Amino acid sequence: MLLKLGGSAITTKEKHFTPDVEAIMRLVEEIKHADVSPLILVHGGGSFGHPVAKQYLINEGYTDSSQIIGFSKTHQAMTVLNNLVVDSLINQGIPAIAVPASSCIITKSGRIESFEKGPLIKMLELGFLPVLYGDAVLDSDIDFTILSGDQLVSSLAMSLNAERIIIGVDVDGLYTADPKTDLSARFIQHITLTELKRLQHRVGEGKVTDVTGGMPRKIQELIPAVEQGVPVIIVNATKPNNIYKALRGQEVVGTEIERA
Ligand SMILES: Nc1ncnc2c1ncn2[C@@H]1O[C@H](COP(=O)(O)OP(=O)(O)OP(=O)(O)O)[C@@H](O)[C@H]1O
Ligand SMILES: [Mg+2]
Repeated sequence: MLLKLGGSAITTKEKHFTPDVEAIMRLVEEIKHADVSPLILVHGGGSFGHPVAKQYLINEGYTDSSQIIGFSKTHQAMTVLNNLVVDSLINQGIPAIAVPASSCIITKSGRIESFEKGPLIKMLELGFLPVLYGDAVLDSDIDFTILSGDQLVSSLAMSLNAERIIIGVDVDGLYTADPKTDLSARFIQHITLTELKRLQHRVGEGKVTDVTGGMPRKIQELIPAVEQGVPVIIVNATKPNNIYKALRGQEVVGTEIERA
């Protein structure tokens, strides 16, 4: 199973470098109690990765040598957040281990081109919980870019034939428009691929910095996995027990996306 904890749920996205330590600790407890194996955790950048990546235009590729230090800073910012997550997991007795995308993935114009999965697969076999995150990565066309946690979960789910993808964010699921800015936004409990493709262009960008495109790009990334038969559920990870219930396959408020 694949779980993505969005930066919107584990950091305060409006404030630079602000983790939501309480949320991280609670979510780690939920993961512990759910006791699901094999599990891969991916987390987003929130107020750690996005602002630095944006400042140095890392997702636009190499145009200026001054970006090189920005690449380092972006990756480093992500390792700080990742350390908090991995430390909390280990403190709960979960054998978590960080897998930096920057060291095992090369993209081509932003899409995963090569992914050395040997260590990851061995980790799963041995009962580790691999923890990946959206990261600055090297790119065969544009030298470097940002790889989103959303592309990572989708790609991993497809290549490992995952049972399900759980996406945790700071809203109850997918709406017909951004629920934070559009009062007429309606909550979607269940949606099929055809309906989702129709809705896709109406989904809002969100108002906080997200260099990987917010909800519209998230949906776009998830579509191929759903197409391949991996169901997706988007839930509110800021509300206690939602991630626990989703991991256990229990009924939970959220948006279920299925092929048909
Ligand atoms: N149609 C929509 N339905 C639900 N949320 C939407 C919609 N349109 C925009 N959003 C916004 O998308 C946000 C979640 O996406 P966002 O990329 O900001 O977070 P994230 O992916 O969890 O963070 P990160 O990229 O750091 O991991 C929500 O906070 C919500 O305001
Ligand atoms: Mg995002």
